[in-house]
Amino acid sequence: MEAARWAPSSSNLQPWRFIVAKTEEQKLKFQEFIKPNNRLWTDRAPVLALIASHKLRQDGQPNGAHAFDTGAAWASIALQAHLLGLATRAVGGYDKDKARQVLNVPDEYELHAVIALGYRGSRDALPEELREREEPNGRRPLTDSIIEGSF
Ligand SMILES: Cc1cc2nc3c(=O)[nH]c(=O)nc-3n(C[C@H](O)[C@H](O)[C@H](O)COP(=O)(O)O)c2cc1C
Repeated sequence: MEAARWAPSSSNLQPWRFIVAKTEEQKLKFQEFIKPNNRLWTDRAPVLALIASHKLRQDGQPNGAHAFDTGAAWASIALQAHLLGLATRAVGGYDKDKARQVLNVPDEYELHAVIALGYRGSRDALPEELREREEPNGRRPLTDSIIEGSF
């Protein structure tokens, strides 16, 4: 979270908010809105965080960069966790309306992903069909992402 605090943001507005669940009582609330197939990744995590962003600038006008900046903050959490020997998994598979209601999130905040933060588990602990899929993911070549000059 400290790494995320230092993420860059438009006008230094720091639109990110992290709704953190650490106690059993707090984590039970998260279970109410995380989709059942994703609870495999979240139920045993010691810490969950719902990443939200404040959509408005100080003058009440929309902050067009709130999602972009909050993405930078979450990426900082993921990288710092990795450096500390921890693992993260972002989970977008949850009911946003339910989460907003259960956690009393005001309308001016957009909800993004739930982050499970903890120690990497053993592959053997997974159900068989997932065990086979649980290989490191690749990425497409960098040249497919770079558009030189113009589209
Ligand atoms: C915003 C976001 C939402 C995601 N939602 C889910 C999800 O609901 N369930 C899941 O199993 N993985 C989810 N993931 C994990 C991605 O599928 C995973 O990061 C991607 O396949 C690349 O794999 P890697 O991070 O292991 O390299 C999500 C990742 C992000 C960034």
